[in-house]
Amino acid sequence: MCGIIGYCSKNGKASQVIFEDLKRMEYRGYDSSGVAMISDGKLLVKKGVGKLEEVNRKYKLDKIPGSVGIGHTRWATHGGVTQINTHPHCDCRNEIAVIHNGIVDNYQELRKDLIKRKHRFLSETDTEVIPHMLEDEMKRGRSLEEAVMAVAPRLEGSYAFLAISTNEPGKVVGTRKGSPLVVGLGKNKAFAASDSMALAGQIDQLYMMGEGEIAVLTADKTVFFDSTGRPISKKATKPDAVWNDNNKEGYEYFMLKEIMEQPDTLLAATHQDKDVFTAVALDVLRADQIIVTACGSSRYAALVGRYLFSSVGKKFCEVVMASEFQYFAESVSRNTLVLAISQSGETLDVIDGVELARKAGARIVSIINRPQSLLGELSHNVLYLNCGPEIGVAATKSFLNQLAIFYLLAFSMVHSFDMAVDNIRKVSRQVARAIDWNNDVIAGITKEYHDKNDFYYIARGINFAIASEGALKLKEISYIHAEGMPAGELKHGTLSLIEEGTPVLVICPGDFTYKETLGNAIEAKARGARIIAVSDVNNEVYDHWIRIPRVHDLLYPMVSVVPLQLLAYHMATRRGRNPDMPRNLAKSVTVR
Ligand code: AGP
Repeated sequence: MCGIIGYCSKNGKASQVIFEDLKRMEYRGYDSSGVAMISDGKLLVKKGVGKLEEVNRKYKLDKIPGSVGIGHTRWATHGGVTQINTHPHCDCRNEIAVIHNGIVDNYQELRKDLIKRKHRFLSETDTEVIPHMLEDEMKRGRSLEEAVMAVAPRLEGSYAFLAISTNEPGKVVGTRKGSPLVVGLGKNKAFAASDSMALAGQIDQLYMMGEGEIAVLTADKTVFFDSTGRPISKKATKPDAVWNDNNKEGYEYFMLKEIMEQPDTLLAATHQDKDVFTAVALDVLRADQIIVTACGSSRYAALVGRYLFSSVGKKFCEVVMASEFQYFAESVSRNTLVLAISQSGETLDVIDGVELARKAGARIVSIINRPQSLLGELSHNVLYLNCGPEIGVAATKSFLNQLAIFYLLAFSMVHSFDMAVDNIRKVSRQVARAIDWNNDVIAGITKEYHDKNDFYYIARGINFAIASEGALKLKEISYIHAEGMPAGELKHGTLSLIEEGTPVLVICPGDFTYKETLGNAIEAKARGARIIAVSDVNNEVYDHWIRIPRVHDLLYPMVSVVPLQLLAYHMATRRGRNPDMPRNLAKSVTVR
């Protein structure tokens, strides 16, 4: 959450570059944004509330003169969404500016202490303590990097921050603990950013910053230090070209583009190293216990994975919500395999759990989309989704590819990786049909239901998690309350909420769950529900039939989730919402 970018150049037009790079990180937070530049020895700061383009229209962030600067796109944690709380934040003398991603847990004590020593605070943020602390250190004659080295160990919590100072105008200094930060270098230019995607096409060398490391950037030279201040040499990696591709290709929203490209991205999920899958499958089979940890959509994919492991590999695993993982830490041992699932590879709840599990000696295997992620660094083995950048906040293609990876892994447990690859390739054509058949039909259905306040999604067995995923999609982008649950649970309480006209989404493919799920749909209908069914089999009980192709039982989740993504998308746009940037949310959740 929050995108940070620092840039050193020689051309006096750094703010244009910073603005463009911020655009590529807007998915990390979009409630406010700002830029600070050093220009003719002065600090110029412009910032405002709203989406980046709006802020730019008003404050011309991209026209601030200067060759060195920093920029921030915010997802508020401490302090409301106001101009004053927007980053960058400055010291008392307006000589130092700081941008930050993360949370300084001990900011209240630090702030009290600074106020006692006559520092003037303008905002309610945790971040603002940092420039004031740097100010104190620089007053003692320290350079900017020495000040950062002195301040960082006193900050508790997680952070990646970048600082500039008018006393050292050619420089950006950055450090991180718990939150991501990369450094990218090109000819006569240096960048530090939350995300390598922000630097797409602009750099030749990429450096992942380790915990506590400090980077000192100038246009000509960048140097690194460890947390004790010792110079270190770091190994550069080449930036991945695929991750440079992040435009909408004519679609109005990234989400729609990402839904539509799923037949192709699903194929990319099969481009895997069979040996790696075989090795991980062996890990799964050998482990005394398997704990899968993830959040949101990734956790729903894991719930489908649990069925696949059980029915194909005959191996039971527990799926634990990553934010709850710490409360089960006592049960993790050397014989535990922790499977961590995360599109971004950055979700702090997942990282926290994995760190705990590592300490207990567990083996860690991750399923990640983003290359060069913090989670990847913590894992003994990583399986990649290969679906390319996902920009829309709602997970779509990454979810589908997570299902595919679980499918490949489950069949690797029974030495059938190749067959699984063939099946997924075939199902990718069925995903294309599910889109073709339903895009217009679903847009039509939303006409009738867009003013409803509550939706219920039901399914059974391997399809139950698809009900939950469909409900999550609807609520996060259209702001309609929705609940997904096993169809059999409806009668244990929720049925009392069903009244005349309540929409109930029934995921009811013609598989081993069909009869019982249909029975539950009939019970809901008897209480006045409007039944919208996702199925390959029509039935008179349905008020609307969203037709999916017939596939093998274990593959239905891959085809039935797609119409639910379309339903959420059309509902959101019909209600005038921007599905790419739903309120209060961000793509990478790097806070607890
Ligand atoms: C899904 O649409 C969400 N935006 C969200 O639930 C997401 O899946 C969750 O935050 C986990 O993210 P990750 O996969 O990057 O860890």
